[in-house]
Amino acid sequence: MEKIIDENKQGQSLVIEKKEGNKRKLFIESYGCAMNFSDSEIVASIMANQGFNTTQNLEEADLVLVNTCSIRDKAEQTVRKRLEKYNAVKRDHNPNMKVGVLGCMAERLKTKFLEEEKIVDLVVGPDAYKDLPNLLAEVDEGRDAINVILSKEETYGDIAPVRLNTNGVSAFVSITRGCDNMCTFCVVPFTRGRERSRDPQSIIEEINDLWSKGYKDITLLGQNVDSYLWYGGGLKKDFEKASDMQKATAVNFASLLEICAKAQPKMRIRFSTSNPQDLTLDVVKTMAKHQNICNHIHLPVQSGSNRILKEMNRLHTREEYMELIDNIRQILPNCAISQDIIVGFPTETEADFQDTISLLKYVKYNFGYMYKYSERPGTMAGRNMEDDVPEETKKRRLQDIVDLQRLHSEIKTKEWLGKTVEVLIEKESKKSNQQWSGRTSESIVCVFPKDAYKVGDFVNVKITNCTSATLIGEAVGYSQNN
Ligand code: 5AD
Ligand code: SF4
Repeated sequence: MEKIIDENKQGQSLVIEKKEGNKRKLFIESYGCAMNFSDSEIVASIMANQGFNTTQNLEEADLVLVNTCSIRDKAEQTVRKRLEKYNAVKRDHNPNMKVGVLGCMAERLKTKFLEEEKIVDLVVGPDAYKDLPNLLAEVDEGRDAINVILSKEETYGDIAPVRLNTNGVSAFVSITRGCDNMCTFCVVPFTRGRERSRDPQSIIEEINDLWSKGYKDITLLGQNVDSYLWYGGGLKKDFEKASDMQKATAVNFASLLEICAKAQPKMRIRFSTSNPQDLTLDVVKTMAKHQNICNHIHLPVQSGSNRILKEMNRLHTREEYMELIDNIRQILPNCAISQDIIVGFPTETEADFQDTISLLKYVKYNFGYMYKYSERPGTMAGRNMEDDVPEETKKRRLQDIVDLQRLHSEIKTKEWLGKTVEVLIEKESKKSNQQWSGRTSESIVCVFPKDAYKVGDFVNVKITNCTSATLIGEAVGYSQNN
């Protein structure tokens, strides 16, 4: 499940520009990964054509849509709490309000949602958003409606997403959907279906359109971007059956990255998430070739123990992962690398955990996202393995790696002291309205006094100070990328 969950964004309700003539009010909020936030932009676009403007006020909403996440039990509990809140608002202030559940929880629980949660009127899985107008018509007539069919083709390539709560500078562009990897802990292959790639032409059109609207930093999104493969449409697993012509003209991730970098040479291009077994050195070499492809790879490892990696069905060993890191560092010496790690996977011993610690020390990641194992019903591990690591042990192991990661982040961040880096200004700093906040190519947040600069400027910043995760500096002029 190679996606980053941005804790700052969870549950944000989303607003878009009002469309003249739209009478009904939609409250839409999202939980989980960047893919969900990106999907909500597609949903908002579909709903705008159905007469809905967005609102941030539950009490006046005609329809509430919540885009949900199933990755860990905690994510699902958060959504259950929100449903209680909607229930209270409906009871006390807004009796006509309808509620729809979208995304991974909808797909996982299907009709159970309608049975378990009386508040829910509408259940829509991640591949069925184009059916929303029909489903809505059912709901308007007083019936519950559900579509959780997963698709072989759907990539929403033909729907121009509306940008929700945007800073006008950075945006997500979805390039693949689903995942074929079947890591044993992961619910994603069940909730988002088989892997398929989006037509490169529509990706480039979206990037060009974003550039023309002033966007300067895009992230190509997918559960496993390195596995991108376009051969005219269809599932990745059916590529073997493609014609010789289709095979000869297929576009893989390295070529897609190059096409994107060349299409908009001043646009910063990022991608997430990479999978160690699919990331090729071609991709790393393409990054080295194009200055506008950002210097950061999010490369989840999940565990440093070969035995646990095997149990997780991660198709690489610790040694192969370390070799990949060595190769990346050789081709791109300053590339930032981040991780996802799970502690307390079933049967994980202290020795297995120490292997994770030693891998962490070997790589010294710039930053990372660490989790306690959460058993997911229906997954291979959920069905075949007992969740046998005690909660206390999971907690302690999590704390240990979080502490170690913090130490490494601090070491890595300090390496920037005294250097001058290019920062793209994204927004005002949360801590001071006198300061801008932006990111370096390596995805490190940097804050500095505003001076005469504005959001969207590429600025050279001299780094004078830092915390463990944030660079602090002073702007010394526009960068040549402006
Ligand atoms: N329990 C805990 N963490 C999980 N992840 C995925 N599935 C689970 C699970 N069942 C983590 C992985 C993934 C990240 C987005 O979430 O580390 O890379
Ligand atoms: Fe990532 Fe594995 Fe889940 Fe696919 S199955 S989304 S690769 S963790």
